[in-house]
Amino acid sequence: MTRLITVANSAGGVGKTTTALALAVAFAEYGNRTLLIDLDVRSTATYLLGVENPRISVIDVLRGSAPLSSAITATSERFYLLPSDSRLSHLDEKESDLAEMAMRLRRELELQDSPFDFVIIDSPSTLSKTLLLALNMADFAIAPTTLAMTGVRGVLQVLELSKGAVWLGALPVLTQGSSNDLLELLADEVEILSPHIPKSNSVSEAAFTKKSVLNYAKSGSVALAYRELAYFLLERINSKS
Ligand SMILES: Nc1ncnc2c1ncn2[C@@H]1O[C@H](COP(=O)(O)OP(=O)(O)O)[C@@H](O)[C@H]1O
Ligand SMILES: [Mg+2]
Repeated sequence: MTRLITVANSAGGVGKTTTALALAVAFAEYGNRTLLIDLDVRSTATYLLGVENPRISVIDVLRGSAPLSSAITATSERFYLLPSDSRLSHLDEKESDLAEMAMRLRRELELQDSPFDFVIIDSPSTLSKTLLLALNMADFAIAPTTLAMTGVRGVLQVLELSKGAVWLGALPVLTQGSSNDLLELLADEVEILSPHIPKSNSVSEAAFTKKSVLNYAKSGSVALAYRELAYFLLERINSKS
């Protein structure tokens, strides 16, 4: 069975793309066949993985004009990518059409010769149709956030927008040892995941090398935290399905 996990927060710069990439790498390391779907019109994950201007991308699959298998590429880190491109900004379908797109993608996932164990969806930093689609498609959702008001507000917004997904929790990122009042406020609404992801220069350094931080700084604090988190999430998901 393929499980879809959406990484969401309507605020930007809160570690969504970093978390989506790290989870894809860690899930693959743990032996899972994993697909990362870039559902952000800004295509940050696609770019970080060294793919530029893909001929076929997620929008073609969502519209049914290309099969999933023709749009997926293998990455050098043992997971697969369904890239995004700027044409995703044209996605402005009615809600009923969005539901159809979600179903089409699900069907395509089921048709794969070797099914994926996990699909991780990186979503945009705007309240948009694309974000709705990402949340509607998900079996599970996780919301990275900085401990700033804008990030926490973004978590509350996606919690409210998501309908069917099981919330794994909010993930504090870029933390520097401090707990704060905002975290307590958030804990009333959703589970706060641990370990928190510490702030480290290795994340931006890794981006320059087109490697994930898990392979760039294998034993660094960020890589260790993401591996531990991935292990915890796998256990949690397997116990729920
Ligand atoms: N743990 C971290 N330590 C340091 N910088 C980080 C960390 N996580 C993310 N960043 C940086 O913060 C910025 C925003 O992260 P990103 O994952 O792109 O957020 P989003 O997808 O929510 O916009 C990026 O420049 C990224 O390199
Ligand atoms: Mg992003």
